[in-house]
Amino acid sequence: MIPDMTTPEAQNLISLPTTLAGLRKDIVGIDTLVPLLDGTERPYVYLDNAASTPSLRTVLRCVEEFLPWYSGVHRGTGFKSLLSTAAFDGAHDAVGRFVGADLATNTVIFLKNTTECVNKLSRRMAFRPGDVVITSMMEHHSNDLPWRKTASVIHIGVTGDGRLDLVALRSALQQHRGNVKLVALSGASNITGLCAPIHEAARWAHDAGAKIFVDAAQLAPHRPIDMLADDNPGHIDFLALSAHKMYAPFGTGALIGPAWFFSAGEPDTVGGGVVEVVTLDRAIWNQPPHKEEAGSPNVIGGIALGAAIAVLRSVGMEAIARHEEELLRYAYAKLKAIKGISLYGPTENLAEKVGVITFNVDGLHHALTAAILSVEGGIGVRNGCFCAHPYVKELLHVSPDDDHRLTEEVLSGNKSNMPGMVRASFGCYSTTEDVDALVEMLARIVRGDYRGTYVQDRASGAFSTAGYAPPFAKYFRYAGLMEPVSHRMSSEAS
Ligand SMILES: Cc1ncc(COP(=O)(O)O)c(C=O)c1O
Repeated sequence: MIPDMTTPEAQNLISLPTTLAGLRKDIVGIDTLVPLLDGTERPYVYLDNAASTPSLRTVLRCVEEFLPWYSGVHRGTGFKSLLSTAAFDGAHDAVGRFVGADLATNTVIFLKNTTECVNKLSRRMAFRPGDVVITSMMEHHSNDLPWRKTASVIHIGVTGDGRLDLVALRSALQQHRGNVKLVALSGASNITGLCAPIHEAARWAHDAGAKIFVDAAQLAPHRPIDMLADDNPGHIDFLALSAHKMYAPFGTGALIGPAWFFSAGEPDTVGGGVVEVVTLDRAIWNQPPHKEEAGSPNVIGGIALGAAIAVLRSVGMEAIARHEEELLRYAYAKLKAIKGISLYGPTENLAEKVGVITFNVDGLHHALTAAILSVEGGIGVRNGCFCAHPYVKELLHVSPDDDHRLTEEVLSGNKSNMPGMVRASFGCYSTTEDVDALVEMLARIVRGDYRGTYVQDRASGAFSTAGYAPPFAKYFRYAGLMEPVSHRMSSEAS
């Protein structure tokens, strides 16, 4: 057996970072220089961790050390295949332990990402007409659209400050008692960073005869998670996460849930690996997780996630949560001091938020702010509605009439007026210096102290800098592989 990578014995074999400072040094590309419009370079300030995180060096080392042993899993008899199988299965267990799942009764299914996990669960729930899924207006589209395809969906609204309306949640559960099969909530919002009271919601859901699914895409990188014992009323029945948001961007996501649930019924995707026996007229399904991982799995992605979890556990999720809370406090104090910045969602009681800050520079298009931060500040953020359009429009107080008009505009090929925000999001390795760089650039933008002439593309709504094309090929030898993208970007800029 390959050792459990999260045990102290294993940590003697692999030297893992144990401190936040060590974690920062463990980030691949932490000192990467990027070009600025004025011809200089600066170390990249990456504040888009809610979208995707960089890889850890430990993860990369683990992948490199594993590659010579890499082989197809589960069905091979050679040494490499047996070793790969043991490591891959071990990574499943590491994920289960990371979220406090009882591995005697629960299974960990490796898929591509959280989106694929929610889609699978939505199909595997085998809803019947009249079955209701309660979700919320705060959700990422990945925890909304899959349910709309398979069940009747009720969206719980938010309170004035952007929090999940818990009174409305309880009342919907009472009103639809008996028909509600699932409550599907994000553990933390990708817009405001607000964490939902998932165990309380679980108790209410169970009391109404429903199960609960937690979309932990934003929660898992920032907070300790405990799904709790199966017989605890606050137990989380199903949970999904994405490795690329947890410092292991190698294409894996995980869905955790009761083994009995996935043992029953038909797998939604079929092919190799999901069966014990096949005759010309029958297929006898394998046990989960194999039953739910059709085809050859992403072994490298799974191993990478296992390694990332070993690092996160070694530093400690509590320490990470505390650090990110301090960063939020530091950032909000500085941002509030700049006149001309609007902040969205609560800016106090920061323990209930993961490291996500959304804002706008008053009077400036969100895409323009993001473009200037990038081209003149070397700061990577994101802007727009972040795959959570209803929530963002609610926070921006977009009226139903305006919403309708804007939708018509988009349908006619014009995204230039799409509402949105700018989002800066922290990782566990982010520092006050990162915040300072953001604040300094924003102060300049508010003063109008930027140099470029920016041109908006009507179709995408994005801004580019007139006369400037980012010199990708200088920085990445394989940039030639992306030639068509470079062409498109330079023609947009002109
Ligand atoms: C809250 C939340 N849920 C789900 C997702 C979807 O994750 P993925 O793109 O990895 O499938 C995201 C991605 O940003 C997210 O922030």
